[in-house]
Amino acid sequence: MPIADYPRVTLAHTPTPLEPMPNLTKLLGGPNLFVKRDDCTGLAMGGNKARQLEFYFGEALAQKADTVIITGAVQSNFVRMTAAAAAKLGMACEIQLESRVKTAGPEYEASGNVLLDRLLGAKIHYYPEGEDEAGADKALDDIAERVRKEGGNPYVIHLSPGHPPLGSLGYVVGAGEIIDQADEQGLKIDTIVLASGSAATQAGVLAGLKLRKSDIRVNGICVRRNQDAQSERVLRQAEVCAEMAGCPGAISKDDIHVTDNYLGDGYGLSTLEMQEALALAAQKEGLILDPVYTAKAMAGLIGIVREGTFKAGQNVVFLHTGGTPAIFGYRSMIEGL
Ligand SMILES: Cc1ncc(COP(=O)(O)O)c(C=O)c1O
Repeated sequence: MPIADYPRVTLAHTPTPLEPMPNLTKLLGGPNLFVKRDDCTGLAMGGNKARQLEFYFGEALAQKADTVIITGAVQSNFVRMTAAAAAKLGMACEIQLESRVKTAGPEYEASGNVLLDRLLGAKIHYYPEGEDEAGADKALDDIAERVRKEGGNPYVIHLSPGHPPLGSLGYVVGAGEIIDQADEQGLKIDTIVLASGSAATQAGVLAGLKLRKSDIRVNGICVRRNQDAQSERVLRQAEVCAEMAGCPGAISKDDIHVTDNYLGDGYGLSTLEMQEALALAAQKEGLILDPVYTAKAMAGLIGIVREGTFKAGQNVVFLHTGGTPAIFGYRSMIEGL
């Protein structure tokens, strides 16, 4: 059905800026580089999840839910922004933090996003595994059952495959926003580079571009799983999202581009390329990236440019999906840069 018919609540400050990165462009000597500032969506320090949550909270409010329940890594930005949206809308929020980064230190466990989760008043649960999506989602259903028994009306945000990628609709809208801004600026975008985690963002951008008949390429940089698993996931979600957005059958396998060359040893774990990207973005463009998502995605962008993939004069947009608070969970690593 048309996007306008889905229940939605405004949470993100949009449109976010689309601006050039002249210093990185000059330094790398390849295509013209731009950044789409979705770190500026505003909700409790911003990030891509604000756009996605507009549709989840829209549905939650339509169902008259009073409690929202979600799971994520300890430094999850999604969880933090869900807690913020719930607070803003006068709802309770229960969050489950998964033990996904086993080598993390005390700052990772207590600062950054977790600190904000507490400040935002969310009730925190812990889940001992980090790569058990079905189990983590089942644990959310158990929390929901408890809330129901206590007389509440819970709404669960499930992210494991098999659930409709409602949040992706936020990026169907986001992709349209990029196209409109590029048109206003007289810019012909060749490629968008973004971090690919749950795949909601990449799937939504792909479907949104199709809806507008755009042939901009989307390069997803894996931050959680290898590229075989991630391409499958992006394809499946993009297909469902395209159907949800009113353009069924628009996505094909050829639209899916993901690389795990910048993942390193896994989710949330440092790589030298990530550290270089984190420092370069800060010191050349004044941009704060995060070690888990956006600095790995920027490492991907830098790597692809250095491989000589793009021609001079081409225009590449880095989708800055936020993650800002997580840097405080990685203090010692950042002090060492
Ligand atoms: C800052 C940031 N960037 C990128 C992503 C990845 O987005 P997606 O999960 O939609 O693939 C996330 C996901 O949590 C995130 O927090």
